Amino acid sequence: MEIWRAPLEFRRACDEARQRGARVGLVPTMGALHRGHQALIEEARKRADFVVVSIFVNPTQFGPNEDFSRYPRDLEGDAKKCAEAGAHGIFAPAPADMYPPGDETRVHVGATAAGLCGVHRPGHFEGVATVVTKLFALVGPSIALFGRKDYQQLKVIERFTRDLFLPVEVLGVRTVREPDGLAMSSRNAYLSAEARAQALAIPRGLSAAARAFAAGERRAGMLTALARGHITPVASAIDYVDVADAETLAVLGPEEHTPDRVLLAVAARIGGARLIDNLVLGED
Ligand code: PAJ
Repeated sequence: MEIWRAPLEFRRACDEARQRGARVGLVPTMGALHRGHQALIEEARKRADFVVVSIFVNPTQFGPNEDFSRYPRDLEGDAKKCAEAGAHGIFAPAPADMYPPGDETRVHVGATAAGLCGVHRPGHFEGVATVVTKLFALVGPSIALFGRKDYQQLKVIERFTRDLFLPVEVLGVRTVREPDGLAMSSRNAYLSAEARAQALAIPRGLSAAARAFAAGERRAGMLTALARGHITPVASAIDYVDVADAETLAVLGPEEHTPDRVLLAVAARIGGARLIDNLVLGED
């Protein structure tokens, strides 16, 4: 398995694969890989002939007070996990490779990026959209895979891919969870044993709301209150517990009634880590 650092060498390898007739699949990541990432790589292997994983902690998607500098980095361990999952190569550029001096262009995003995490992480989705667009331009993938764990990110990427007529299929993959229900995340590494146990309140809160939804509850405020009831006692802060349209991500007011398929999304701070999770009620 090859590791490229220089964007133009990486592009040449992807060009060559396409010229051989290979369907190229791309799995963008920030590294510190876990089984969630590996599931994306394995799914890519089923749908593409040449699968590349990018590993890049993208500075433009982190706010000034966020965890860019302490974000876990482990290229050696990641390379093993990529090989194990069947990737053909890794693209691991330095920040100055992706954003060389003079770089100034950004992909502006709209309403899909405005609510939920967009409220609490200004500029985050513009950074994501910019780096993913750069990756699409380097790779020319037929398919790119993203996790539904970052549901709003997936919808923002689907949106700009459509809006910019980018010739790539964007595929969302189910959230991979620990046996006890916690969604896998590179940021789980920040959790102490105590915080790790407290973090279970998030999947438990989501499940409680999902059970009520399955039993017929459609009042948005009741569904979010059920989830909050689990999360409030353990979180140092709740950024949001919201019910939103599963495609536009427009947030429903507490008095509104939900359709039969709706997103329930959570972002909360537990033990110094900002954790996000979601369920599409009526689907997941
Ligand atoms: P990162 O957090 O490393 O995630 C890379 C991909 O793995 C994303 O598509 C994410 O949704 C997916 N993923 C993470 N945890 C998952 C889980 N438990 N189950 C399934 N998929 C999971 O998301 C990013 O990096 C960045 O924003 C990126 C898209 C790479 C742009 O910089």
